[in-house]
Amino acid sequence: MNATNDSRPTLLVVHHSPTPLLRAVRDAALDGARHPEIEGVNVRVVEALDATAADVLAADAYLLGTSANFGYISGALKHFFDSTFAEYNAAAEAGDVPKGRPVSWWIRGGYDVTGAAKAIRSLTTGFGWEIAAEPVEFVGEPDDATNEKLLELGGTMAALLMDPTTDPTMAQTMDQTMEDPR
Ligand SMILES: Cc1cc2nc3c(=O)[nH]c(=O)nc-3n(C[C@H](O)[C@H](O)[C@H](O)COP(=O)(O)O)c2cc1C
Repeated sequence: MNATNDSRPTLLVVHHSPTPLLRAVRDAALDGARHPEIEGVNVRVVEALDATAADVLAADAYLLGTSANFGYISGALKHFFDSTFAEYNAAAEAGDVPKGRPVSWWIRGGYDVTGAAKAIRSLTTGFGWEIAAEPVEFVGEPDDATNEKLLELGGTMAALLMDPTTDPTMAQTMDQTMEDPR
């Protein structure tokens, strides 16, 4: 179920990427989520200021991306959480969404992501989501190792939603076998 009438399970990518560096970080994660070996998954990418509660309710898993700003997540991603929580929480309390939907994220800071990392853990726990892939939290220039982690992050989150009857080993082995498609 998702907001675009696509019958495939949906990975909702909600990000705030206002600089070239942040867009490159986002694109590395998206390369993983859109890896050609991952089939049958809808990867829906929405800027944090545009994401709605309907987007969140219609998705099956979440990949979030932000810079560290003023010792916290970006205001844009905080707005996403603020503006969708009431509707999502009401649906969750009514039993209309499964508990423990998978989530993970990337956070890039200039010098310290501690506060942002703590905040996003707390916020995603508040939504009742469960971390399903190792978050990528880093400072400085993204090197090859960081780009590989971002690729694995996106790939793992999308592979979680693959139909196991398509390839029963895919979700488990994705993080070990993925090669950079670029
Ligand atoms: C208003 C503002 C506040 C920031 N606060 C932090 C911060 O608390 N911690 C940190 O590591 N980086 C901080 N940064 C740096 C951003 O994380 C950085 O700009 C972002 O990751 C994008 O990198 P770029 O500006 O090199 O493209 C801040 C940047 C801005 C514009």
